[in-house]
Amino acid sequence: MINEEALKAILLALAERSDDDVERAITNSDALDDDDRKLIRTALDSADTAAGMARALGDAVRAAGNIDYLSNECYRAAFYLGDGIADVREDPLFGFFSSKRTGRILDKWIHYFPVYSEHFSRFRGRPVRILEIGVYRGGSLDMWRWYFGPDAVIVGADIDERAREVAAPDHVVEIGDQTDPEFLRSLSEKYGPFDIVIDDGGHEMQQQIVTAETLFPLIADGGVLLTEDCHTSYWEGYQGGRGRAGTFIEWCKERADDVNGYHQDRPIDRTWTDTLASVAFYDSIVVLKKQQRFAPFAEQVGHAEFLLLPRLSAQYVTELAARRDAAVAERDELRRQQALDRQTIAELTARANATAAEQVRGVARSAADRLGKLRRG
Ligand SMILES: C[S@@+](CC[C@H](N)C(=O)[O-])C[C@H]1O[C@@H](n2cnc3c(N)ncnc32)[C@H](O)[C@@H]1O
Repeated sequence: MINEEALKAILLALAERSDDDVERAITNSDALDDDDRKLIRTALDSADTAAGMARALGDAVRAAGNIDYLSNECYRAAFYLGDGIADVREDPLFGFFSSKRTGRILDKWIHYFPVYSEHFSRFRGRPVRILEIGVYRGGSLDMWRWYFGPDAVIVGADIDERAREVAAPDHVVEIGDQTDPEFLRSLSEKYGPFDIVIDDGGHEMQQQIVTAETLFPLIADGGVLLTEDCHTSYWEGYQGGRGRAGTFIEWCKERADDVNGYHQDRPIDRTWTDTLASVAFYDSIVVLKKQQRFAPFAEQVGHAEFLLLPRLSAQYVTELAARRDAAVAERDELRRQQALDRQTIAELTARANATAAEQVRGVARSAADRLGKLRRG
């Protein structure tokens, strides 16, 4: 059977990039039988990098139904051998996490860090109000303090009394049950409205749903509710299962319908349609973003020809056509005026020319008369 010791030897040999050591680890392990060896070799042959091999091994171990811990170790090796580390190396929270070798325990899925950064970076260094449900040993409260800075109000909540004792003295920790709406409301009244709520509590369906239903309406405008470890929605032991009614993920899918509430033949839900800006699904995390939304509407701009589309209301088209007709009439009137003006100018010019000619003729006549008199006289 593939066990921890056998796997460790193979992963170490992979990390050293030694094909001979990998083969020796497979051959020499007493724990492995021929079927195990075949499964491992097939997995390793399917990839051509050490990271790819570790990942393929993890897939094979997982498919064989071995305990999650073993595939987790394969995927962890794959990550550090190059299959992912480049994606998070620059992430500040991953930097904090990976450099932490002492102090309060912090246990995280690595792919959470970029999700935190994506949604939390805009709050960094600001006087934000943060609630984390699920304190455990206080390691994440330390991380949030480091990340958000001294101006942030950070509150932890846990059902376990010990959370208060183990958290750092400068952390506020309240004891209560996240399935108790009154407890959650009291936290918001005392320390809120929160800009960020992180649900890392019990991860059971009702815990996550009650927390979201109670706290989302109380979150500050522009804030977020981040629920982690939502993979429990797929786990038997948490009443989970793909598509199973009553799971937190199914509840979140309904919220996706609410975001699109204006496009359905039903009354608008003032909380879930008017203030839920987005539902973002990640592996094991769902982020609900709160933002007071204006009612959605479509508008078109551009050349008037584009406005003659079927979806425009007849009234709107009529209005535009009327304006166009008025503009055309005005233009025609101007042209008529111009034509009249041209005619008037021509008449005046002709009249002036005639007058000038008459005057010239008069002058010529009087000059001729005077000349005749002079000759006769
Ligand atoms: C996963 S741990 C929290 C880990 C911590 N956030 C960290 O990253 O270091 C979960 C915590 O949730 C607490 N918890 C479990 N059920 C709870 C409930 N119904 N209400 C509040 N907290 C609960 C547990 O006592 C435990 O300390």
